[in-house]
Amino acid sequence: MRGFLFGVVATIVVAAVCGYVALRSGLVPANADGEPGWLEIWAANTSLDAALDHEAPKGPNPVAMTDDNLVAGVELYGRHCAICHGTAQGNASASPVAKGLYPQPPQLATDGVEDDPEGFSFWKIKHGIRWTGMPSWGSSLTDEQIWTLALFLNHMNKLSPAAEQVWQKVRN
Ligand code: HEC
Repeated sequence: MRGFLFGVVATIVVAAVCGYVALRSGLVPANADGEPGWLEIWAANTSLDAALDHEAPKGPNPVAMTDDNLVAGVELYGRHCAICHGTAQGNASASPVAKGLYPQPPQLATDGVEDDPEGFSFWKIKHGIRWTGMPSWGSSLTDEQIWTLALFLNHMNKLSPAAEQVWQKVRN
């Protein structure tokens, strides 16, 4: 039994030392101008999916689907989000900030979140996404503003004419 315990402790110590040496010797990349590896992507996506399943609000969007609310969503997006997530021109509008981030933010007019439940977008906007440049907005926007943004994101590809007109004018 004592030999077994010694084996377990020795394995943990060797693994910790190897990890420390790997970090100290520069084997673990610290740069932002690379592509995330599969293990990183898997760990980040799995933890995000689990958090969304447990914590994202399940009900419908409390902000009503009206012209005024869609326009308000576009305006909030233009002010806070377009710098990273682009304009109605999608990928063609990626800013220098967006191109330099690790991982790169989706240009939402190209890779949108219209299929996601609005509660998922609400959670991501309110709490941000760890290990990425996606900030949490819970300390600067009200829940109502965040739901208004989620409403716009969910309807980005089927906006009312009034909201579409404002959307086409957003620049970043
Ligand atoms: C500083 C850059 C930055 C800003 C500003 C920013 N985001 Fe993000 N956002 C990101 C990054 C990076 C990701 C990608 C995370 C990933 O790869 O999973 C992201 C992800 C998202 C996602 C999830 C996309 C998906 O495909 O699942 C949503 C929704 C989102 N952001 C909404 C917003 C909204 C709304 C705002 C404005 C209030 C905003 N973001 C502002 C960087 C930003």
